[in-house]
Amino acid sequence: MSFIELDTERCVQCELCVKACPVGALGLGESGPEVVLEGVCNKCGHCVAVCPKDALNNRYASLISQKHIDTYPVLDAETAEIFLRSRRSIRYYKKRAASREQLLQLVNIARFAPTASNSQSVSYYIVEDRSVLDELAELVVEWMKMQIATGEYHHSFPVHIDAWKNGKDTIFRGAPHLVVAAAPKELKNRRDNTVFSLAYLELYAGSVGLGSCWAGLFEMFASANDEYVSKRIGIKPGLMLTGAVMVGVPVERYLKLVNRDPLDVTWVD
Ligand SMILES: Cc1cc2nc3c(=O)[nH]c(=O)nc-3n(C[C@H](O)[C@H](O)[C@H](O)COP(=O)(O)O)c2cc1C
Repeated sequence: MSFIELDTERCVQCELCVKACPVGALGLGESGPEVVLEGVCNKCGHCVAVCPKDALNNRYASLISQKHIDTYPVLDAETAEIFLRSRRSIRYYKKRAASREQLLQLVNIARFAPTASNSQSVSYYIVEDRSVLDELAELVVEWMKMQIATGEYHHSFPVHIDAWKNGKDTIFRGAPHLVVAAAPKELKNRRDNTVFSLAYLELYAGSVGLGSCWAGLFEMFASANDEYVSKRIGIKPGLMLTGAVMVGVPVERYLKLVNRDPLDVTWVD
């Protein structure tokens, strides 16, 4: 059975679906698109989404599952620039927890990020309880001390150890939650998929009243102690931690769009 269904009365044979298919699974037959390569569809849904007549259905990305919108709002360049540049790492959070609804909205947007060959496969574990983060932060600090003893450590470790000694959490920045991403161990692009997904999450956070910051120090600890961390977070067998972002209701608000290093670009002929 073919994975596409065609309404031949609607199809105008414009070939857009054939051209949109990233894997060359479709070709134009006598009455419209036909499957020319089996087993390669990556379920991206482009063929269905591009059809101006709703003539095509794809079993793997059905017409009914795709949200119809009449106009795609395109942000003007200035608004888009402000939106992207105003995403900042948040390191000062309200103590109160975010709602489950907010946290779900946040991780839900992450699954719409691009992934290699539409492999997706990123799962999310949301640490809801701040006391778990206190426990993990302490372990991160203890691990940093051990790293210093071995002589192999990031130059910032002594600062974080000192801060913790003085009652300040610079590992999770006092955030009430941590979103941990995990993906199949055998998935080659697991980190790339995660980075895109968590970048979506970070960009969306402000729209649901939240702020976030990449938890790189925790990631370092986790990669050196993956078995322990997987067990503590409850990561399913076969998956591994691929990223982590702290999340909460922000206290701070940035009033300027910061500059970065000068653009480094080379035209290539
Ligand atoms: C991979 C990665 C790891 C990071 N790890 C941490 C971290 O452990 N703690 C922290 O406070 N910020 C962390 N950050 C945030 C960066 O410091 C921040 O993105 C950078 O200073 C630019 O600031 P902005 O995000 O506010 O624009 C990390 C960012 C990335 C991309």
